[in-house]
Amino acid sequence: MTALVLFGGGGDLAVRMLLPSLYFLEHDGLLPEGLKIIGAARTLEDRAAYLDRIRPSIETKARADDAWSDAVWKTLSGRIDYMALDATDPDSLKPLKAAVGDAPVTSFLAVSPSLYARIVTAMKAAGLAGTEDRVVLEKPVGRDLKSFLEIDDAVAHAFPENQVFRIDHYLGKETVQNLIALRFGNAIFEPLWNNLTVDHVQITVGETVGVGDRWPYYDEYGALKDMLQNHMLQLLCLVAMEPPSDLDPDSVRNEKVKVLRSLRRITPEEVDRVTVRGQYGVGTVEGQAVESYDQERGQPSDTETFVAIRADIDNWRWAGVPFFMRTGKRLPEKRTEIVIQFKPVPHSIFGHGERGDIYDNRLVIALQPEEDISLSVMNKKPGLDQRMQLQPIQMSLSWGVNGKDAAPRRRIAYERLLLDALNGDSTLFVRRDEAEAAWKWVDEISEVWADEGVAPIDYPAGTWGPEAADVLLARTGREWNVRDE
Ligand code: BG6
Repeated sequence: MTALVLFGGGGDLAVRMLLPSLYFLEHDGLLPEGLKIIGAARTLEDRAAYLDRIRPSIETKARADDAWSDAVWKTLSGRIDYMALDATDPDSLKPLKAAVGDAPVTSFLAVSPSLYARIVTAMKAAGLAGTEDRVVLEKPVGRDLKSFLEIDDAVAHAFPENQVFRIDHYLGKETVQNLIALRFGNAIFEPLWNNLTVDHVQITVGETVGVGDRWPYYDEYGALKDMLQNHMLQLLCLVAMEPPSDLDPDSVRNEKVKVLRSLRRITPEEVDRVTVRGQYGVGTVEGQAVESYDQERGQPSDTETFVAIRADIDNWRWAGVPFFMRTGKRLPEKRTEIVIQFKPVPHSIFGHGERGDIYDNRLVIALQPEEDISLSVMNKKPGLDQRMQLQPIQMSLSWGVNGKDAAPRRRIAYERLLLDALNGDSTLFVRRDEAEAAWKWVDEISEVWADEGVAPIDYPAGTWGPEAADVLLARTGREWNVRDE
């Protein structure tokens, strides 16, 4: 037997994401044989009440994907138990230890990070941090480098690094892994993947949602720490890293950490030229009038809900290639994409626009809403024009093109990550030194913002952030990718 313990088993993350992910894994026959799942939380309720509470969310998600089956639910619920306990108290963890015995335990801390240090300490005292046990930590671990280290030191005291799984759910997204396949499973991209051929890279994570009820958390973090420190820097690492020698967790993470350490520091002299902070005002998103962040918050705040940054990676491969990142709430669309913009052809034999404009090649790796990798290439317009005419076409590298294979069901990112944690594969998890390097770079930016009094600029909800975010690129003669409708 092996056991998966979900601390915070009745909370939002467990009910909305983790348990539905486990259902889908069960549905596809991917859960390890003999796996027991134990929901653990303070709420005094029994197993039957717990199952009744978690089932609606699982069933709704499964039905939406046409994957609901009473038989699968029966098997999954047969694995699930519930224990009411206080995870910060070693005595309270004793019955849990007794229930799992000597089985290897993977503990997922789906609770407030302010409790992490106390929980791992109690787990160690209760014998739940043995050499076969693992702990999975959800973000945010810390608010800055100092608080990250405080929490992480307590974790390191209980578990050696190879038993710690720090989640960044973006790494569980299918297209993110596809990026690794694209780069290192093909011979044709890697020779171009450098400053000789790439003009610049863009990473956009646009969200239409506002902060809403999450403001008590969000107001302390802002877009820089909520999204850029983790998800976006992880994407940047996967685009920019050197080829690892294999897919071993340390080989991959060694390369990622080198990228983070090569990020150029953002100085007070540079801050206005390379960073933009924004905060949404009132506006219209998806046809609905929405409140400003200040209104949601109930008072004025100087937390940014939008950030755009030009990052430079100081190494041989990327010298001179800017990486532009932007993310924000209340933008016009939910869109996550990475754009690799190639340089123009060195010389055009087609004259100057007489045969149509030549568009520089662009590889767009779309993560959401649709998952797709597409390459724009120039092509001759079909026909017998006397003067050959050009047109750009999109080559889609997605599933289901040419009608061959139907796209598989779009998985929840946590499915991949839960499975990997249960199997002890930490390739898609964040190592301590990566998180440290990311915090260090981000801390410096927020310190410069504070020292220089850089306040967020208002942008109307439903727009792509302050105009300054366009100027960030325009200043270098570039512009953000506009999606073809
Ligand atoms: C979370 C952030 O980590 O990621 C949220 O805390 C954000 O603010 C979310 O909305 C976005 O995730 P996804 O998978 O919807 O892009």
